[in-house]
Amino acid sequence: MGSFDGMSVTDFVDTLRRMAPFGLQQAAVQKLAASVDPRSPELDRFVRFSDERYTRNSVVRTPQFEVMVLCWRPGQGTPIHDHFHSFGVVRCLTGPLRADPYDLLPANGGPRTVRRRREGLFAPGQVSVSCRGDIHRMGNLEAGREDLITLHTYVPPLSQMTCFDPEKRVEWIRRVLGEDGGTVVDEPPHAPATA
Ligand SMILES: [Fe+2]
Repeated sequence: MGSFDGMSVTDFVDTLRRMAPFGLQQAAVQKLAASVDPRSPELDRFVRFSDERYTRNSVVRTPQFEVMVLCWRPGQGTPIHDHFHSFGVVRCLTGPLRADPYDLLPANGGPRTVRRRREGLFAPGQVSVSCRGDIHRMGNLEAGREDLITLHTYVPPLSQMTCFDPEKRVEWIRRVLGEDGGTVVDEPPHAPATA
């Protein structure tokens, strides 16, 4: 023992459970996530890679929050998406993580679209935060051959996301299914909403 510093994943989850009845504030979750030790041996059983796509591995899912470990092979990434009613805190355990924020452009009577605001690059140990309503795309998208592992906390647990493909000019709903939130299903893409 004593081979790692900082907070274990179990302590992280236990602390979130104790805080949850009083309301989980984004700044507090961010600070806590930043203290998780990436060498925490408990992480091992949530680390699972697939050549098909990045994997989502549930650590805990309660009515107030969920914690997941995501594992990304080089080149694997999400679509551009929002988090519906949830905020998200992503701790980069190994890196680098690309997390680019996007702006939703007003429709002005026509189809709405999204545009990348800037590139976001996160080194191991850093934390990427997305507020309710934020849109981003993330993944293991830097040139390199290293696998990427990230620790995600969502408050409340993710139920659905709106995904955007501005090049194909479509958007779609991705639903999060299962009691552990580990399965996602995409509804058929459709033309962007107008306003
Ligand atoms: Fe996200």
